[in-house]
Amino acid sequence: MSKQQSHQLTLLDAAVAVQANAHAPYSHYKVGSALLADDGHTYCGCNVENVASPLGQCAEGNAIAAMVAAGASKVREILIASPNSHFCSPCGGCRQRIFEFADQQTLIHMATSDGKINTVTMEEILPLAFTFDPD
Ligand code: THU
Repeated sequence: MSKQQSHQLTLLDAAVAVQANAHAPYSHYKVGSALLADDGHTYCGCNVENVASPLGQCAEGNAIAAMVAAGASKVREILIASPNSHFCSPCGGCRQRIFEFADQQTLIHMATSDGKINTVTMEEILPLAFTFDPD
């Protein structure tokens, strides 16, 4: 097994474990996410919905928040686990959140509940990302 595949499996296990804790009583769509950071640790997050729906938080954003709180600053790879047989493609906001801590070649893996994995790069998933270029 390549190093790449072993990272993928570690992230898949971690994302599926945290997915069970998702708070999704409104959508019933539980998402788990796990990322490998530059400090070599894995950080996880799940979606946390709220009765006031705009306050809901995505799994990826919460995994990134855990990474930042622990003092790491770079996402090496991130995996998003869907609750069904369709890929959960990161929402637009989460693409920008990942971009903040990624580079163009950072890998984004999407995994279905029946074991399919689709991997794309940051560059592929968010071309022309917003960056702040002051004059
Ligand atoms: N969700 C995520 O956690 N990540 C995404 O990238 C897309 C959507 C969550 C938000 C909400 O709790 C549920 O999935 C349905 O939209």
